[in-house]
Amino acid sequence: MRLQTLIKNLLNKYDALLVCDIYEDAIGPAGSIGGYWHGLILEMIVIHEDSRCKGIGTKVMKEICKYADEKQYPIYLRPGFKKYTNHRLVRFYKRFGFCLLPKAIVMSRHPKQRKNP
Ligand SMILES: CC(C)(COP(=O)(O)OP(=O)(O)OC[C@H]1O[C@@H](n2cnc3c(N)ncnc32)[C@H](O)[C@@H]1OP(=O)(O)O)[C@@H](O)C(=O)NCCC(=O)NCCS
Repeated sequence: MRLQTLIKNLLNKYDALLVCDIYEDAIGPAGSIGGYWHGLILEMIVIHEDSRCKGIGTKVMKEICKYADEKQYPIYLRPGFKKYTNHRLVRFYKRFGFCLLPKAIVMSRHPKQRKNP
C-alpha cells in the first residue's frame, strides 16, 4: 500500500481525524534529526477536540505503526511544538514503542521485525 492510500483510508475511516500529515522516503540531513535516514516523519495528527481521549488516536497510530513495520521503516516525530516537549504526548507515543532520543526533542520508533536478509 502506498502512504497516500493509507492516509486517505485513515481520513475516510475516522471522521474525527482532522489532520494526518506523514511523509515518506526523505533522505539526507534532516534538521534536528541529522544524518541520513529512510522512513516516515509523522509531522502531525490531530483528532477533533470533542473526540479526544476516546481511543481514536490509538487506533490511528496502530495502523500507522503497522504500515511502518510492513515497510520496515522507522518513524520520527516531535512530541510537541518547536522546542517545547509535551510530556503527555511523549507518554502517548511511548505506548506504541517510540523512544525519546537522548538530548533531543525527537522521538523515533523502529520496526518490530527485521526481514530475513
Ligand atoms: C494526541 C492525540 C492525537 C491523541 O488522540 P486521542 O484520540 O485523544 O488519543 P487516545 O484516546 O487514543 O489516547 C489518549 C491519550 O492521548 C494523549 N492525549 C490526549 N489529549 C491530549 C492533549 N490535549 N495533549 C497531549 N496528549 C493528549 C494522552 O497521552 C492520552 O492518554 P492519558 O489520558 O493517559 O494522558 C489527540 O489528543 C490530539 O489531536 N491532540 C492535539 C494535537 C496534537 O498534539 N497532535 C500530536 C502532535 S503530532
